[in-house]
Amino acid sequence: MNRRVDETHLTPPLLEMRQVTQTYALSRKSLIGARPTLTVLDKVSFDVRPGEAVGLVGESGSGKTTLTRILTGMEKPKQGHVFYNGADIWAGDAERWRNFRRSVQVVMQSPRSSLDPRMRIGLSLLEPLRSLRIEGDHVARVHEVLDQVGMSRQALERYPHEFSGGQLQRIAIARALMPAPKVLIADEPVSALDVSIQAQVLNLLKDLISELGLSLVFIAHDLSVVAYTTSRVSVMSAGKIVEVGKPLDLFTRPQAEATRNLVGAILTVEAGLAGNALA
Ligand SMILES: Nc1ncnc2c1ncn2[C@@H]1O[C@H](COP(=O)(O)OP(=O)(O)OP(=O)(O)O)[C@@H](O)[C@H]1O
Ligand SMILES: [Mg+2]
Repeated sequence: MNRRVDETHLTPPLLEMRQVTQTYALSRKSLIGARPTLTVLDKVSFDVRPGEAVGLVGESGSGKTTLTRILTGMEKPKQGHVFYNGADIWAGDAERWRNFRRSVQVVMQSPRSSLDPRMRIGLSLLEPLRSLRIEGDHVARVHEVLDQVGMSRQALERYPHEFSGGQLQRIAIARALMPAPKVLIADEPVSALDVSIQAQVLNLLKDLISELGLSLVFIAHDLSVVAYTTSRVSVMSAGKIVEVGKPLDLFTRPQAEATRNLVGAILTVEAGLAGNALA
């Protein structure tokens, strides 16, 4: 086990952003002067190696989803670079772009808004193969992926509203797996689900990562959820990565104020549950 961890650290990153700054233009307050900008990511570097599961935590508005959009190529950074397999995704040809889009897939927070309500599940699952122009036996691939997420084939003829949130998130994960990606980016994948089914979806993600040898970027507010699924966690605050560490070290010896706040929030909840809350 240790050996594997050591080897992982010697391997170059599979997906990496280096010194990325992202700004958004805000509306002008007056007619005179420059248009104000909001810096959402400030020289952020972040990476994941092959087969590695890394986490990203931070308070609401700290820039996590913006980082997801940059890592998946949905947005181009104003400054800095994104590399997949060592190659700049914004500086290649169409073939490099297609390979990148196929290899890095995302699971969003709300499966209800990420699946088209008017489309049968079967068609939704096929959609990534069509848009990425991936050839092969599509039906066999759909069946294989349904097995991997523990859903039956009967799901294919049904519509999203016929499923629970947990089942829909399994389907959204299945759709992300369809193009056989190398990296899965999960942005708060369980925070919209009932607490009782969160663990099932987390276990599914963990199993998939180890069985398929995928890399995982797991994003959440909650340090304990990330600690359960990943081996290295970055803490983000106001558009900057303020601390990186192993989950246990972050819990026991948090250095940055943002990390201490996240740990404190968990301890407060636990104290509350145990009836020891101060208030
Ligand atoms: N397209 C945009 N234009 C202007 N501001 C934006 C845009 N997208 C995001 N922002 C701002 O950037 C900041 C970071 O947003 P982001 O969604 O990345 O945070 P987050 O960490 O994912 O938050 P949450 O935990 O609530 O999901 C916020 O202040 C947000 O209002
Ligand atoms: Mg977000």
